[in-house]
Amino acid sequence: MNEPTPADDRETLLMVNGFSPYVDALLGTRFQIQRLDQAPGRMQLLARIGPQVRAVIAGASVGFPADLWDVLPALEVIAIHGVGTDKVDLARARQRGVKVFTTPDILSEDVADLAIGMWIALSRRVADADRYVREGHWSAAPFALTRRVTGQRAGILGLGRIGLAIARRADPFAATIAYTSRHPVPGVAYPYEADCMALARRSDVLFVALPGGAATDAMVNADVLAALGSSGLLVNIARGSVVDEAALISALREGKLGGAALDVFRNEPNLDPAFAELDNVLLQPHQGSATAETRYRMVEHMADQLNGYFADTSTAGSRSRNGVS
Ligand code: 8YV
Repeated sequence: MNEPTPADDRETLLMVNGFSPYVDALLGTRFQIQRLDQAPGRMQLLARIGPQVRAVIAGASVGFPADLWDVLPALEVIAIHGVGTDKVDLARARQRGVKVFTTPDILSEDVADLAIGMWIALSRRVADADRYVREGHWSAAPFALTRRVTGQRAGILGLGRIGLAIARRADPFAATIAYTSRHPVPGVAYPYEADCMALARRSDVLFVALPGGAATDAMVNADVLAALGSSGLLVNIARGSVVDEAALISALREGKLGGAALDVFRNEPNLDPAFAELDNVLLQPHQGSATAETRYRMVEHMADQLNGYFADTSTAGSRSRNGVS
């Protein structure tokens, strides 16, 4: 990251993890970025710069590490690259008066695109078929028959911005769509189910599009997977924590669930190695929002938020220093 110079008067920005190639270009002019995950001595870095850090940036899936609260006394802003705040202690942020920024809307369409792509790839076994061709099996025998996508019954678990974007895309596939959310969503005509079980019972494919965190932890459990059934499909582009992974692995292994397409995992990037041994799964490296266009716009949005915040606070600071307010 960019090194401080003796006359460097840029604001120090602590970056928890690497999440985008655009960070330096879009934030480096105004901020002197210190990368926590690449510091040879994490504690030494924090001891040296901790007292002056007013802003932290972090990827949504990594979040704000709990041990930073005590070593960043001047913290004012946590800017999350993404929409999930499940890895940020929001109650503590409120109590400390720390603002939490996210990048809403920008990524919804890309995440929904991937969800639909994963659904098709899982149903039509696109990755297996690619391997089949590459490995030269085609001339010996045709590839096995796969599963029709058009007309499947799609359950959307969580009808927020991403869930709605998935539903809009499933519509042209003649999907029968239903959903569950904390509450019925006003203005939405799709049938609402009271809970995840009821939704799974009426679905061929269950799209998980809910936030992670304690309220949704392991919501997709063994019973829900059993309700989806041996030809049911699970597509998760939300958080690994929403699914009971041990139950999922057993259901897949025993043929009690038809298949799963997973972009997220409980302990990512170190997922349970059992997933890679199953042939009825499609695995992705948490790449729902990872297009060049969207990642650029996400960092641009973070830069706007941070620039705006620091411009406002420096104006407020100089006003109060001048006794204006
Ligand atoms: C992030 C995500 O872009 O927005 C979220 O909550 O999980 C992702 O799409 C990713 O975590 C990188 O920061």
